[in-house]
Amino acid sequence: MENRFSSNLLVMFFLPLLIQLCATSEYTRPSPRQLIFRAHNRSDSEPQQVHVSLAGNDYMRVSWITSDKHVKSIVEYGKSQGKYESSATGESSSYHYFFYSSGEIHHVKIGPLEPSTTYYYRCGGAGPEFSFRTPPSTFPIEFAVVGDLGQTEWTASTLEHVGLKDYDVFLLPGDLSYADSQQPLWDSFGRLVEPYASTRPWMVTEGNHEIESFPIIYPRGFKAYNARWLMPHQESGSKSNLYYSFDVAGTHIIMLGSYTDFDSDSDQYKWLQADLANVDRKKTPWVIVLLHAPWYNSNQAHRGEGESMRQAMEELLYKARVDVVFAGHVHAYERFTRVYDNNANSCGPVYITIGDGGNREGLAMK
Ligand SMILES: [Fe+2]
Repeated sequence: MENRFSSNLLVMFFLPLLIQLCATSEYTRPSPRQLIFRAHNRSDSEPQQVHVSLAGNDYMRVSWITSDKHVKSIVEYGKSQGKYESSATGESSSYHYFFYSSGEIHHVKIGPLEPSTTYYYRCGGAGPEFSFRTPPSTFPIEFAVVGDLGQTEWTASTLEHVGLKDYDVFLLPGDLSYADSQQPLWDSFGRLVEPYASTRPWMVTEGNHEIESFPIIYPRGFKAYNARWLMPHQESGSKSNLYYSFDVAGTHIIMLGSYTDFDSDSDQYKWLQADLANVDRKKTPWVIVLLHAPWYNSNQAHRGEGESMRQAMEELLYKARVDVVFAGHVHAYERFTRVYDNNANSCGPVYITIGDGGNREGLAMK
């Protein structure tokens, strides 16, 4: 009897307390982690920072860097390990940024390639063999969307999680290396992402951390970004590497540029208008847009930074019935209902701010 009374007492007084404690205990958000610097550990003629991207229908672009300036821009590839039935040549360049000189940056377009197929390849005729899998030609397709990556221990953790998934295409709406003008950090970032970016196409657009402009000397910015992360802008009729589009398995994906002109008389606006007019919804029933600075954002961080671009371009996206808009920049996840011009609208896109990929700045908590 006494036992039952004491157990009743326990339930009456302590259980509500326990429930309340559980309900009010807040999730403690982890703080930023240490920077990781990946050093160069291959020979000067061997490829480093290898990454691949989609380059028009049935083609991929292989990009890599060599310290040796005389290595040829050649990619040998085939469907079995160590057997390269095909090869293609491309071009290389290098750039200077103050006292920094880049290695030789190679870009080679290969194809036509078959869908859902693993290809083995070698860059510059030397060094390790790499492999990638081409995306499928029809649904289902799986995308990994990660932005604001940086190169900390959290970045490595994010990449490990992504690597566990059997995704088809990696989409990155801006802020890659957080080098912020320290050019060796671009090289370190390239080495950090190589195990992932050499095996699946990585499609990126620029964020504010890619700008790296400097008055008079580098007024236009994006020197490292444009040299290293060449995207299929020519293949999609764009004059600038800062915005482009591509089709993959029933999806038309538009990568917009938050940090280049977007007003109605700009090249980007006119290009977007033409690109949207050419979408064939029978071929690509899904239309997805990625950009860096979100147009809709309830976080205190970066409030209003995407507003002038929203005012300039939102109508184009709305009239074209874009399905989803992914943004980065604000380091916290947020998803809106379908919106147009600040009102819920069942014909507007769903806006998703994808959250923090692991950069040194940490999370946007307000
Ligand atoms: Fe950003």
